[in-house]
Amino acid sequence: MDHFNYQHNTLHAEQVDLHKLAAEFGTPCYVYSKATIERHYQAFASAAAAHPHSLVCYAVKANSNLAVLNVLSKLGSGFDIVSGGELRRVIAAGGDPAKVVFSGVAKTADDMRFALQLGIKCFNVESEAELERLQQVASSLNIMAPVSLRVNPDIDAKTHPYISTGLKANKFGVDILKAPDIYRAASQMSHLQLVGVDCHIGSQLTETQPFLEALEKLLQLIDALKQDGIQLSHIDIGGGLGVTYDKETPPEPYAYISKVVERLQQYPELELIMEPGRAIMANAGILLTKVEFLKPGQEKNFAIVDAAMNDLIRPALYSAWQNIVPVSQQSSATAQLYDVVGPVCETGDFLGKDRMLAIAQDDLLAVRSAGAYGFTMSSNYNSRPRVAEVMVAGDRCHLIRAREQWQDLWRGEQLLSEQ
Ligand code: LLP
Repeated sequence: MDHFNYQHNTLHAEQVDLHKLAAEFGTPCYVYSKATIERHYQAFASAAAAHPHSLVCYAVKANSNLAVLNVLSKLGSGFDIVSGGELRRVIAAGGDPAKVVFSGVAKTADDMRFALQLGIKCFNVESEAELERLQQVASSLNIMAPVSLRVNPDIDAKTHPYISTGLKANKFGVDILKAPDIYRAASQMSHLQLVGVDCHIGSQLTETQPFLEALEKLLQLIDALKQDGIQLSHIDIGGGLGVTYDKETPPEPYAYISKVVERLQQYPELELIMEPGRAIMANAGILLTKVEFLKPGQEKNFAIVDAAMNDLIRPALYSAWQNIVPVSQQSSATAQLYDVVGPVCETGDFLGKDRMLAIAQDDLLAVRSAGAYGFTMSSNYNSRPRVAEVMVAGDRCHLIRAREQWQDLWRGEQLLSEQ
């Protein structure tokens, strides 16, 4: 459930009319609902609270705005990061480094050094080469590096191939069959402390079964390691829970996490970590855009809007379907089928195809479920300034990222010093 609802035929973010918001901040812009973020976070945290120790580490890549991170951090959230940049964002937002898990297949020595000095919770290590690099960096600083091995359990997450990560053919993690040997080797390294195991099998999963299969494989590994004298203190089940964009019916976070907690009853000593991104943020945000022109064609009608693939790339990149709704339901226009397209010079620049909409020029549209992997994947393609981000809390609006200025487009660029 989210807090974007129609009141008097006008779409509101919590108590704020989106017309008012567009007038104040301009379009296109991303709009997030604070109450929705909090609600989604609590769904994970409260289900996990039934287990003796647990930590939600929100996946920063889904939406890394400082205000979003700050709201979550105040609720007690930890963070799953994949770069030095994300780590710096967490710190700038007031996040606790002791609640940070660091994933990613190519951590640099500099990133490792910075994270070790900050005292992060653990490194989710994805290869043997990375273990060696971490050992070198940690010993040069004389700090013990907390390590969890990201294992690849070879489970089909049954999702889009670009966002499936737990198959043998994917670049992520180490083969679970090789994991015992790798743990054994790592246990001999002077500056590594083995603390956990993790996996992330993919994103936008709509069933619990693949998650539970992965959990089973991880528990088997934990048992086997224990026999070998390697006692882990946490299990990290990754992120990946899907959301409803269209007609998908993913399990509620509470239902999914409760099943995990139930299975972990025999493992009270293990801390449960989870890394949700999309399930917290996707339906906590919309992309607000204005119709520039309606362009009737022989085969297609186009609604050309001011947002484009550079602002929200999911439809172009994954053929992702996101709902597009008019902000006002009281249009005198007749409903027609439109391809909703942006100003970018690419045929792939669409936000939605074949959408039945009753709209006129200058009307506002909301692209729903845009709070995750929306702004964070945006770019300046076609020299378009990145859009503003606004967070609504009750009847108040907060500008949480200003629209980029023209000069931002060439910041850092220089003419040749010699002509
Ligand atoms: N943990 C790890 C190690 C991950 O790689 C990811 C996402 C997550 C957690 C969070 O997964 P989530 O709960 O959000 O599914 N750009 C794509 C999604 C890419 C996900 C990459 N990894 C999209 O827009 O659909």
